[in-house]
This record gives sequence, C-alpha cells and structure tokens, in this order.
Amino acid sequence: MRNPQLNGDGKLQHLLTIEGLPREILVHILDTAASFIGVTEREVKKVPLLRGKSVFNLFFEPSTRTRTTFEIAAKRLSADVINLNITVSSSTKGETLLDTVDNLCAMHADMFVVRHSSSGAAHLIASHVAPHVHVINAGDGRHAHPTQGLLDIYTIRHYKKDFTGLSVAIVGDVLHSRVARSLIHGLTTLGAPDVRVIGPRTLLPTGVEQLGVSVHHDMREGLAGCDVVVMLRLQNERMKGPLLPSAQEFFKSYGLTPQKLVLAKPDAIVMHPGPMNRGVEIDSSVADGPHSVILPQVTFGIAVRMAVMSILAGN
Ligand code: CP
Repeated sequence: MRNPQLNGDGKLQHLLTIEGLPREILVHILDTAASFIGVTEREVKKVPLLRGKSVFNLFFEPSTRTRTTFEIAAKRLSADVINLNITVSSSTKGETLLDTVDNLCAMHADMFVVRHSSSGAAHLIASHVAPHVHVINAGDGRHAHPTQGLLDIYTIRHYKKDFTGLSVAIVGDVLHSRVARSLIHGLTTLGAPDVRVIGPRTLLPTGVEQLGVSVHHDMREGLAGCDVVVMLRLQNERMKGPLLPSAQEFFKSYGLTPQKLVLAKPDAIVMHPGPMNRGVEIDSSVADGPHSVILPQVTFGIAVRMAVMSILAGN
C-alpha cells in the first residue's frame, strides 16, 4: 500500500508518522538537521529557504516546546508564521476542523503544523488539502509525534554516534505515549538492536513486543547496562480511570533516581521529552545531573524541525 506521506516520486509530502518511513528518509532528515546546527549558532540565524511561504501552527492541545521550536524553526527559514489561537478561534463556535483548514488555505497557507487530541487529525487534513500544501503532525492523541521521535534519535546519534550495539530503555507510561511509539519506530528502522520498554502492566500496551521491543516490569532489570534512558510523563489527561495506586508508589518502582541510574552504563544519557513531573517519573538530581541531555534535546528540536520543513518545501 502507498505511504500517504510520500508523493509519487517517493519524496516526503507530509510528515505524519515515523512508522513506515524508509531509513534513507530518516537519515536524510538527521543529516539535514546537522547541517542546520551551524545556522542556529550563527549571529544571524536565518536562511531564505522558506521565504514567501506561510506556515500555520494549529495547536488544539497545550504545548511549550513543540509549538515554540516550530515557530523558531520556521522563522529561521524566513517563513511567515501564523499561530492560530484556538481558544479564541471560530472552532469554539462549532466550525469543523476541515472548514478551518479550508479558510486558512484560502489565505494561501503552504504548511500546517497540527497538534490535536484525536489520533488521525493530521492524516485527515493531509488527505484533504491541495497537493502543494504540506502537513506536519505535531502530536495526535496517543498515536504519533514524529518530530519528537526525530529529535530524540538525533540526540541519541549526537551522543552515541551510531545505533549498532545500542541499548535504549524507555520507561513509564508507554500506553498513552505518542512519543514512545514514534521513538520505537525510529530506533528499530535505524537498526538499534536492543530497545526495552519498562513499566507496570497497566501502562504498557498489549502486544507492544510486536514493535520489536523487549518488555520489563522490573525497572532495575530493565535498566541494566543500557546506554540511553528515556523517561516518560504519566499522561493523566489520557487515562480513563485509575491505573496506578498513587504517584508516590509509581515513583518508588519506576521513578529514575541516582540509585537506579547506576545500573545503566557509566556513560548513559538520560532523556525526557518534557514536560517533566519531578518526583513522579524523575528525581531532580537526575533531571539536572551530569547524565541529563534533556535541555539539549529541546535545542536540537529547532534544527530537526528546520530540516523537516525545508525538506517538505522541496529544498
Ligand atoms: N515534548 C513535547 O511535545 O512537549 P510540548 O507538549 O511542550 O510541546
């Protein structure tokens, strides 16, 4: 079946999910992002690759990192950026998602960056817009968050150089995590041989092994000898009913503390997509400690999002 993200020439038309993307495209995005790091460190942080293009940020769910770094990235590519304020938009008066999109297309939108609580929202828009318009999924329900997955694999490649022989542990609420799903697809496509998910049975999806990961319920066993630890937030807003005794109990079993981190390799890196809940999934001494690359992840996100937008625009 044809991948709806690719055009007839096999080039990226939309970025909706990492699942099913060829390895070459992932590597091209990572390499392009690396070439933009220099731009983001210059005094004049602008290139003209999206000059004259209009990028619309449509965030129907809250965001700090994704929305802001998409805006910075688009501005660094010299695009015009419009942040639709959903809370005061006509969607509060009953306008449908596709009617909103049609109206923004009538204003000559070239690219949409979409976050939505419904899985499939970005796919719906991508299947609706004209062929010259590009759609980037900035997180849909619990389905996918492809640019977060890409910035996560960019960060891992930056610190660990390549994926062969790498052990990556993803810990916590995998069940509700679009970040975990996107990262797992990225890591397995790039050939990481040992991807582990760690969490209580109630927070791991049934059949998650089919994604090519091993499953651990004991955090100490799961962390043993790993190179990368990715901590996930408990997504209380997506939970239907109580899945845990308490946040304190969760922290005792699955919170990352210095005592647990020593089980990983001595040079292990600690990642978190944010927002963090200190004292729930991660201890402050780890979040702010020498193994943490949580803030560099955010910075790399700018270059990764510049790469995605410039590739979609045909540069
Ligand atoms: N990682 C992430 O998506 O963060 P925001 O919700 O702040 O965008």
